[in-house]
Amino acid sequence: MNTHQDDSGSQNEVATLYERVGGDQFFVELVERFYEFVENDLSLRPLYPENLEPGKVHLAAFLTQYWGGPHRYSLERGHPRLRQRHMSFPIGQKERDAWVTHMVSALDSMEISVDDATLMEDYFKSTATFMINR
Ligand code: HEM
Repeated sequence: MNTHQDDSGSQNEVATLYERVGGDQFFVELVERFYEFVENDLSLRPLYPENLEPGKVHLAAFLTQYWGGPHRYSLERGHPRLRQRHMSFPIGQKERDAWVTHMVSALDSMEISVDDATLMEDYFKSTATFMINR
């Protein structure tokens, strides 16, 4: 079987999600929109540091890497160990749900296929549940 996928018209079988959504810019914009919701959420905002910019860069780099883009996150931050990195933030069901709601809202505002949006949503929901530590 020919594994070359260049001339396939079937979007879901070509490229990674990173490539399908248009690369780095998509993740930077998604994170920007997500953080706008966080900034205005009185229950979630206090968990985040005063300066939100470094966190935005890290989250965008992480998602870029996770969905098949360059491995900038690991180069800069090492192994993700996400659950461990979140231990110092009190995350209960309420915080988890708020985080997911904001991320899904951000995702809904982006240009992305229904299939890819579903993939990302499912991933966010299960990963966010995994972060619950209180
Ligand atoms: C469940 C609710 C969640 C809450 C309340 C939460 C909260 C936070 C907070 C407060 C930070 C620190 C930000 C900073 O230092 O500027 C952070 C960092 C981060 N979060 Fe979350 N998070 C949640 C879920 C998730 C999920 C589901 C993912 C991935 C899919 C994720 C990925 C990250 C990454 C990559 C970082 C940066 C880690 C680093 O310092 O390298 N978080 N999160």
